[in-house]
Amino acid sequence: MTVFNRRKSIDAMADRSGSEQLRPTLSWPHLVALGVGAIVGTGIYTLTGIGAGLAGPSVIVSFVIAGLVSACAALAYAEMATMIPAAGSAYTYTYVAIGEPVAWFVGCSLILEYTVVCAAVSVGWSAYAGGVIMSWHLPVVPMLLAGPAAGGILNLPAVAISLAVAALLAAGTKESATVNFVLVLVKLAALAIFVALAFPVFDAAHFHPFMPYGWSSLSPDGVKLGILPAASLIFFAFYGFDTISTAAEEAKNPGRDLSIGIIGSMVLCTLIYMAVAAAAIGAMPTADFAKSAEPLALILRTLHHPGWATIVAGAAIVALPTVVMVFMYGQSRIFFVMARDRLLPGILAKVNERTHTPIAVTAFTGVVSAAIAGLAPLKLIAELANAGTLCAFVAVALSMMVLRLRDPRRPRLFRTPLWWLVGPGAIAGCGYLFWNLPVLTQSLFVVWNGLGIVFYLAYGMRKSRLAQAG
Ligand code: ALA
Repeated sequence: MTVFNRRKSIDAMADRSGSEQLRPTLSWPHLVALGVGAIVGTGIYTLTGIGAGLAGPSVIVSFVIAGLVSACAALAYAEMATMIPAAGSAYTYTYVAIGEPVAWFVGCSLILEYTVVCAAVSVGWSAYAGGVIMSWHLPVVPMLLAGPAAGGILNLPAVAISLAVAALLAAGTKESATVNFVLVLVKLAALAIFVALAFPVFDAAHFHPFMPYGWSSLSPDGVKLGILPAASLIFFAFYGFDTISTAAEEAKNPGRDLSIGIIGSMVLCTLIYMAVAAAAIGAMPTADFAKSAEPLALILRTLHHPGWATIVAGAAIVALPTVVMVFMYGQSRIFFVMARDRLLPGILAKVNERTHTPIAVTAFTGVVSAAIAGLAPLKLIAELANAGTLCAFVAVALSMMVLRLRDPRRPRLFRTPLWWLVGPGAIAGCGYLFWNLPVLTQSLFVVWNGLGIVFYLAYGMRKSRLAQAG
């Protein structure tokens, strides 16, 4: 076996007879709630403002594009998750379908994505927490509410929330389905309140000019502007649905429940996002909230609803940490699986005997994302997370297509409809969104994965469990 055809056996991965079986207890409403719980977060609560700054009112079109690309990838995810119900998500699917070197690359991208998403959502959370803290006129130092790029020294609330979530996870805390359901309702109720208060003052004049920067253009200082660069940023708001595919084994009727869960949460979020974006733009010209880190609260305050602004901010403060939790949990599982495959040092797969959690990995993720959240600007880190996610989505769509061709007769609990169209659609869409990311983001992504390749050549390629097995 050469390194290029080093693949995991699909039969071994799909066979769950030796492992503990999860009880199928979830039907589609649970799965929609699970998806919406992980999807709705900093993307809509905070990046709406930055996105509107990049595209003007046509940011609404950016939401549609990012939603469509995500939906194509989500369908491929559902097929792979039901066929290979093993931890590791895109990394594991790629290891089975394509091979170890590409799987390693995808694993590195996932590590980047998960760490940076935790940081980005923490920064979004901090914006709302900071807004409330400031409105209470507490004796706080404003310089400690924002990182250097936003004119401060350190984003202390973002650091604190990253570390707090890591500590909870390390102690063995798990989000229960009931807590998730309540928090989903809180998040959606806050968005509904926002739309209900903003729509009555809707002014269609705010939608002109609709596309001030066209599809894609460059500002005099070299910033990518327009619908497509905004879609590449807003894409952040859509992912998190892979948490639905991780629950594939627990679906009562996976074929039906997963498709409704994934497509349902995607469609629901796209509609909600468009309503929120339309209400925001109708209530206030995009230029007036584009620079705000808490645009929804700012708009409500400007509309003389300070109490409701605090309630919406409160919903973000209560509900956003669970998004950090979902991704930090995912991060530790990716490290765990890669270390179990011996592509990373075994210490990373160590589980604490008392808490049954991978404490070292969780602490590492918490500290790194806290450092990034404390210092880096939100736009940069959200886009970097998107780069990693786009890479993972391409890998999943490609894996789905490869297995359709190589193993067409294998039973599939969920089949991607029109796979020959949806698969290439996901790949082309993700590629195009990646292309429209800022050059700095693309460069950081390449540097990170370049370091990853060096590590693979120096370590994983030789130590890999499959290499040892000969
Ligand atoms: N989709 C998630 C969010 O917007 C990552 O926070």
